[in-house]
Amino acid sequence: RIVYVHGQFIPEEEARIGLFDRGFLFGDAVYEVTAVIGGRMIDNDLHLGRLCRSLKELAIPLALSLEQIAGIQAELIARNDLRDGTVYLQVSRGEADRDFLYSEALAPKLVGFTQAKMLSGTRAQRDGIAVDLADDPRWKRRDIKTAMLLGQVMAKQAARARGFDDVWLVENGLVTEGASSTAHVITAEGHILTRAASHVTLPGCTQRALAKLCAAEGLQIVERAFAPGEAQAAAEAFQTSASSLVTPVVRIGVRLVGNGRPGPMTRKLQALYLEAAG
Ligand code: PDD
Repeated sequence: RIVYVHGQFIPEEEARIGLFDRGFLFGDAVYEVTAVIGGRMIDNDLHLGRLCRSLKELAIPLALSLEQIAGIQAELIARNDLRDGTVYLQVSRGEADRDFLYSEALAPKLVGFTQAKMLSGTRAQRDGIAVDLADDPRWKRRDIKTAMLLGQVMAKQAARARGFDDVWLVENGLVTEGASSTAHVITAEGHILTRAASHVTLPGCTQRALAKLCAAEGLQIVERAFAPGEAQAAAEAFQTSASSLVTPVVRIGVRLVGNGRPGPMTRKLQALYLEAAG
């Protein structure tokens, strides 16, 4: 693979990250993952918009325009001949001797790479997945997409050990989101429930793009939180992310959702999203 490290496109074997990089020592870095289907980036404007927001919230002064960043992504895709997969970007605050406090003069470090994998037509997309329920162990600014992901790593690994494909996180009796996705349920009346944007969850780009498509189709999205019990008793459930697109959720904890098969509304949303992406 050809990767991008601090201004250069180089073979991954030659990539070096400094020992004193704050992303490495403190998780003091933000990232984005953009889906690539048929060689094209999906919803990348939304991803770059969110990257800027994350940088601003943490006062990381990346001196690159959105066009320059998109150019780096495009070059990564071209140099790796990527058809289907993801392009990853990470911006660290920079390098300095270890100190919690940082100098505002640090030069941020941008790295990027691609990962090849089929995003659509997968088993998960076709048959749906089983998600575990777990207490949300994360900090209180989940709206910032930081590289500080140990809560998600622990939750996903525990869910996998319990035989689940993924996990939905719960706080104060309400589902926050998936460990790396936005959680949705569809009520018996056909309302699509999604949690409203706040510091409690990451505002999903896939969810935002899907909401726009739904509005154009006259499908109703209701922004409100739901409890694990409501999700388990819902007509349908699904999760969205750049790496999983629209993925049906057919079991939540011990309970099957509906008849345990992806529902008709979820199928329609999958088709709508793929059609817009293609
Ligand atoms: N994760 N919530 C969390 C906690 C996430 O990590 C993600 C994405 C999402 C969905 O966001 P989007 O639709 O913009 O991808 C929601 C990426 C895919 C990851 O960490 O790999």
